[in-house]
Amino acid sequence: MLMILIVDFGSQYNQLIARRVRELRVYCQIEPPDIKIESIRELRPDGIILSGGPASIYDRYSPKVDPRIFDLNIPILGICYGMQYMMDALGGTVKGAGKREYGHAELRIRRHDGLFKGIEETTPCWMSHGDSTAKLPRGFRITGSTKNTRIAAVEHPKKYLYGFQFHPEVLHTPKGKSMLRNFLFDVCNCPKNWTMASFARESIQSIRQEVGDSKVILGLSGGVDSSVTALLIHQAVGKHLTCIFVDNGLLRKDEAKKLKIVFKEHLEMNIRFVNAGKRFLGALAKVTNPEKKRKIIGKVFMDVFEAEAKKIKGAKFLGQGTLYPDVIESRSAFGGPSAVIKSHHNVGGLPKKMKLKLVEPLKYLFKDEVRKLGKTLGLPDELIWRQPFPGPGLAIRIIGEITRKRLEILREVDAVLLEEIRAKGYYRKLWQSFAVLLPLKSVGIMGDQRTYEHIVAIRAVTSKDAMTADWAKLPHKLLGGISNRIINEVRGVNRVVYDISSKPPSTIEWE
Ligand code: XMP
Repeated sequence: MLMILIVDFGSQYNQLIARRVRELRVYCQIEPPDIKIESIRELRPDGIILSGGPASIYDRYSPKVDPRIFDLNIPILGICYGMQYMMDALGGTVKGAGKREYGHAELRIRRHDGLFKGIEETTPCWMSHGDSTAKLPRGFRITGSTKNTRIAAVEHPKKYLYGFQFHPEVLHTPKGKSMLRNFLFDVCNCPKNWTMASFARESIQSIRQEVGDSKVILGLSGGVDSSVTALLIHQAVGKHLTCIFVDNGLLRKDEAKKLKIVFKEHLEMNIRFVNAGKRFLGALAKVTNPEKKRKIIGKVFMDVFEAEAKKIKGAKFLGQGTLYPDVIESRSAFGGPSAVIKSHHNVGGLPKKMKLKLVEPLKYLFKDEVRKLGKTLGLPDELIWRQPFPGPGLAIRIIGEITRKRLEILREVDAVLLEEIRAKGYYRKLWQSFAVLLPLKSVGIMGDQRTYEHIVAIRAVTSKDAMTADWAKLPHKLLGGISNRIINEVRGVNRVVYDISSKPPSTIEWE
């Protein structure tokens, strides 16, 4: 696959570089600086981007890539630390800047060809650096300067080497994308061939090659990552894939039933449904501590999954829905990739124990790309746009003891809530929307009768990544409608309250 290689020097903006390149429909891959020169040759990238990073070139352990990279005859763009590394490696001088430059700056462009083709005389750019280039290596020339940084952009056009002291990948550099476009298409001659259809085709082919006639197992949760992974592997190896769906008795209403219809009946996949509700509820009896609940659920899940997996004779691979941000985040900034296993439903220890090799076809994709891929593969919208649902399920939304009766109440409340949220067009606008059953009762009146029943809380939040979240400002009419329906339709509930806390300091879930 032709592509751009991004060498990761640890900048917080690295994922953004990858995003921008892919938005321009060019495939790219981020690799750590200790990547072997032979591996780079094998990858045969059309171009290389050396990323920014927090280190100074003079730090004792500053990250370095093999300097022979500059002799490969492949165009290279160094950004911030990446540029400083290039300057230093090729004989220039990098110094601690007299004036550090952070934030907005005006870039004065000196040459309007090369990477600045089509960009006006001055343009805003985003700086974030302590060091800067004091003396250029031979053959380089300055292409742009700011007030505090004379050498803010450089090029060696004959060797196709370029450097930006600023960050073209952030939105604060409004013409940054045009600069990257010039690099990708004018300098590197990249083909615009990165589409989900092409990714799916190549991915299916490589899974087929890797797996051959062996069997693959996969823990299906019904979330978008595991569903898309399952579908992709299924399209590659068909019935050689067996999915295991563990019904832990803590799912939402009709969840297992709906999944069965989609995966077993429509997509005709090989799925084993394990009904383990009794086992989970038994282990959870009388447990009220949230962390204990999580631990128990994780452990029982692992046991149930392993027992089922062992029944699949000849399984050599385990499919997992690891995404790109998980891979990048689990690498140390300056080291190579550590062993990366996203413990999707806590099966992290399984590959070693059962000697399984991982198949992680989504490991170079971002979440929105996974959704697009799901669409390309024909996954129903309902699954593609599913709000996140935690592995421990309703157990961490029942505050206090988990009993069948309380589960039943929450399940019904949750179903009414989601029906209303969907019907009024809010489902996709919200990161999550759910109900929590409180360990309290309150007095109410129904008809002529005094009642003493459960209270439920409604939680609805907007968020980009679950790291922070705002409580959703849902219209009063919608909230009123939800409350009315819940109290009228779900026996055992006589009061509904709305959670108006954001994260931080609250969390999204209550436990
Ligand atoms: P919090 O409550 O920490 O949640 O703000 C952030 C996101 O993570 C989900 N979540 C979990 N997911 N196992 C999971 O698979 C868990 O134990 C768990 N706890 C929270 C939560 O739903 C939200 O999307």
